[in-house]
Amino acid sequence: MAEDPVESLIKDTASVINDFASAETTHKKYLKSLETLTADGAASSKALKHVSYVSSQIKKDIHALNKSGTALTDEQKQKLQHAKAELDKVNEKLKTLQYDLPAENSGLYLSIILGSALNVTLLDANSRYRYKKDYESFKMTVTYVVLVMLFLCYMFPSRAIDALANFLLVWYYCTLTIRESILRVNRSRIKGWWVTHHYISCVIAGITLTWNDGECYKESRNLLIGLTAYVSLLQLLQHRYQTGCLRRLHSLGQRDDMDITVEGFSSWMFKGLTFLIPFLLVGYFVQAYCGYCLYAMYFSKKSCGEEWQVIVLSMLFFLVAAGNLITILAVVIRKVTTDSKLNITDLTAKYHPKKE
Ligand code: COA
Repeated sequence: MAEDPVESLIKDTASVINDFASAETTHKKYLKSLETLTADGAASSKALKHVSYVSSQIKKDIHALNKSGTALTDEQKQKLQHAKAELDKVNEKLKTLQYDLPAENSGLYLSIILGSALNVTLLDANSRYRYKKDYESFKMTVTYVVLVMLFLCYMFPSRAIDALANFLLVWYYCTLTIRESILRVNRSRIKGWWVTHHYISCVIAGITLTWNDGECYKESRNLLIGLTAYVSLLQLLQHRYQTGCLRRLHSLGQRDDMDITVEGFSSWMFKGLTFLIPFLLVGYFVQAYCGYCLYAMYFSKKSCGEEWQVIVLSMLFFLVAAGNLITILAVVIRKVTTDSKLNITDLTAKYHPKKE
């Protein structure tokens, strides 16, 4: 005999009420854990700060004792040296532990944009890895769209398409600065210059967007399109290198035998850099050349001399080319001269969960 439909619905409702009661219990448990987690996070942060403060005081005292000229036996000197080495190890470990705690503030830029109450810290290694991967994919996707827009600008010269392409660039660079600020809160080591470079690129695109459609604009647009296309191609090459590094750092952290893979990572990184750097240098040369062409235009053509955009863009291109060149030299010198093994141990800590 078929079941009474009303009874069946009542039975289902009772089952839903039961399920809800159990879901509510689980949710309460979750809220309790969250409360405990927040309290434990604050306690851990306080404890780490205390250790950091005391260890820096002891190091200062050791330094002062060594400088004071107090007569010390060889054994005492050795003991002090050993203590200092131990404190250095503690400081290195402290840095790694701090990766897992919320940052105290997100900085002025993010506080203005997102509000100071929003905490943008990613607490576990997998989330940091996924966020960084997503940042790289975002750059690549938008770069393809930019290339399509530049192709349209070149094929169908029109102020409207140019404006659309420049608007896209303003939005892109603006978004990059926000994402990069979030990455920096999450202990990314992006050099300040690369972020500044993206602020300046945003200003350059903004100036080009508002530039009158006059003779000087028309004369410079092919050069600007060419430069932007080259920079976009560079970004695709960079994407290959950066995602390669990221993938390797992530999997490096997953293995137990670090030594073999660390060597593999270093050799891959240097090969990648050797391939990339000549293209980057050509890019900086093209940026400086753009700066020079605009500079020459400003002083040689009366009509261009009356447009502030020409000289401001020229100065910004010189600034970007010089900043890029200096930073890339600093990066290469640092990579060649520092102890890569120490750095890698530190770097991998960011992208792999601790196994304990
Ligand atoms: N933009 C964004 N992030 C960058 C970056 C850039 N240009 N250069 C480096 N980073 C990030 C790295 O991904 C890494 O992040 P993480 O700490 O979150 O893992 C961190 O900064 C440290 O990187 P570092 O070890 O200093 O350099 P690298 O080996 O990753 O990259 C270069 C070195 C030279 C390849 C890279 O800096 C680069 O491509 N620079 C050129 C950028 C440029 O000139 N663009 C304009 C083209 S005209």
